[in-house]
Amino acid sequence: MKTRTPEAHLLPQVDLTRLPQHIAIIMDGNGRWAKKRRLPRIAGHRAGIRAVRQVVEACARMGVRCLTLYAFSVENWKRPHTEVKLLMDLLREYLKKEIAELNKNNIRFGAIGRISNLPPLVQKDLYTTIEKTQDNTGLRLTLALNYGGRAELIDAVRDLVTHLHRDGALDVNAITEDELSRHLYTRDLPDPDLLIRTSGEMRLSNFLLWQVAYCEIWVTDTLWPDFKEQDLFQAVADFQKRERRYGGLG
Ligand code: IPE
Ligand code: IPE
Ligand code: MG
Repeated sequence: MKTRTPEAHLLPQVDLTRLPQHIAIIMDGNGRWAKKRRLPRIAGHRAGIRAVRQVVEACARMGVRCLTLYAFSVENWKRPHTEVKLLMDLLREYLKKEIAELNKNNIRFGAIGRISNLPPLVQKDLYTTIEKTQDNTGLRLTLALNYGGRAELIDAVRDLVTHLHRDGALDVNAITEDELSRHLYTRDLPDPDLLIRTSGEMRLSNFLLWQVAYCEIWVTDTLWPDFKEQDLFQAVADFQKRERRYGGLG
């Protein structure tokens, strides 16, 4: 008998010809996962990395073009110093271990957020990973780090106004949606089609505020470390049943 992979019962529900181009995920619930097991929060973050690996690989195999993962928000600095430090250490460990796997799966790595305010060694590892995967042509994996949607909009407006000022007087009519989009961190990514949030919270927590204007939102109670590729296939299958209207009549 042919061995059935765990996802075998769900993958047929997914139409591989109509995949979302860009999936964005708010990976939430690591702390609650650890608490349930009476473990320190960092154990939840560590378990969360296993879920990251699974989802990245599943997206690459399915043929999704872009995957953006919310890993650390501008607000997350409010957490205790020890948790922040351990998160940064875990990120560095992940990057170092993952380069070979990313290359094996033809994945191009990127990062969005106020990267220059991250610890210098984290920045170094990020740039190394970006450089070493830059020629890959498959999935574009982007980590949102020290990311905030409002911060991104402020940075984009500053950038845009500086750019427009270069040629002398500022013409406010030159500020258009397309022009602003060209100054966002995500300028070379399409807007997400599907936003997944784990752990049940019905909020955006400052993630991709501009880009999710017409994104389909899918929330699951599953805690991020328990999120498996089956959950991803379920999200995509549900997404494919939605009618997207963009304000029109469909
Ligand atoms: C998400 O899990 C990971 C990060 C924000 C870095 P949390 O750490 O927010 O887990 P909960 O929400 O406390 O369960
Ligand atoms: C959102 O989760 C940020 C990340 C997943 C990195 P949070 O746990 O920080 O969000 P809130 O505090 O519940 O809104
Ligand atoms: Mg949380």
